[in-house]
Formats: sequence, structure tokens, C-alpha cells
Amino acid sequence: MDRLFVAIDLPVEIKRDFVVILDELRSANGKTVPIENIHLTVKFIGETNKTKDIINTLSAIRFRSFSLSVEGVGLFGSVYHPKVFWVGVVKNESLESLFLVLEEELSKVGIAKENREFSPHITLARFKAKPDIRRLESVLKTYGSRKFGSFDVKGVTLYKSELAHPNPKYFPLKFFQLEGA
Ligand code: 2AM
Repeated sequence: MDRLFVAIDLPVEIKRDFVVILDELRSANGKTVPIENIHLTVKFIGETNKTKDIINTLSAIRFRSFSLSVEGVGLFGSVYHPKVFWVGVVKNESLESLFLVLEEELSKVGIAKENREFSPHITLARFKAKPDIRRLESVLKTYGSRKFGSFDVKGVTLYKSELAHPNPKYFPLKFFQLEGA
């Protein structure tokens, strides 16, 4: 079985700005995502033995390249009980329709559709231990409406995830180029 997800990789110029935030989140007791693992998941597939079918399905999708703006930060959970600290993206119709197309096409090879709404985010840290609330509030305030920049999404990558300690390992299986990229 493979544990798979489809993600958008971020340009280094954008990820560079995350370095200082990651430091601050570590000080706030967050378990940060290693910089090389940071991505934007479009479709989480989960455990499957249909990797070949999935690759064939993704290869057949025609979808136009589009621009995406990375902006703001937020939490799943609250500052008192944070779960995930994320960087946001500006609401984007292309991204939402890409998610719907992936869901629709992958459902044809038996991949379950999400029962939750698509909520695009870039995870920077997870909280398992008690947070340093004041530091966390300060990070949220400092970067709450920060514009990290825009970039052209030229394709999506199918990743295989291997759970490991202290962090999972992500292996790119295949890059699928979007049209016009
Ligand atoms: P997260 O960053 O919000 O945890 C690899 O695990 C990627 O798949 C991560 O981006 C993770 O999102 C996402 N992911 C993991 N489990 C998921 C699930 N059950 N539903 C949706 N996305 C999931």
C-alpha cells in the first residue's frame, strides 16, 4: 500500500520567508514541518494500492496553469488549543476547480471524495504540547496579513508519504504539468 497525496510545490523565494516564522513557532512549542516538506496539498489520497491507476488518471487530466497568491497565516484550533499553524492562499477559483477535477477523476478509480470542504493551507507547524500562547499570538499578529508573494502553478506532484520519526518522508512519484506552463 502507498500513502499518497497530490500537492503544489512552492517556490524557494516564498519558502525562504517561512524560515523565520518556523523559528518563532518552535519557540512557541510548535512541532515545525521541515522546510523541504512544506507544500500545499490539493488532494489527499491516503492508503491505496491503485498507484498505477492514479498515475494514469492524473496524466490524462488537462488543466490550465494559473497564478496563486500566498498570504496570511492562521490556526486550526485556537491559540489556547492550537492544532495546526498554517500559511494561507488567497481564494482562487482555479485552485478550487483543480481540486474538484482531481476529486471527480480520482473517484473513477475508487478514491473517496472528501466529506469536508476543501480548505487550502500550507502547514508550517503542528502542536502536540502546550503552546507558548504569548509567542503564538505574536506570530499570528505579525504575519496575519503578510503577502508572501504570487507564483504560477505549473503543475502538481503526486507524493508518496512514508511515516517516520521525527518527520514523515515525502517522495515525489511524478510531476504533472499543467497546460500553458
Ligand atoms: P496537513 O498539512 O493539514 O496535515 C501529507 O500528509 C499531506 O496530506 C499534508 O499536507 C496533510 O495536511 C494532508 N493530509 C493528511 N491527512 C489528511 C486527511 N485525512 N485529509 C486531508 N488532508 C490530509
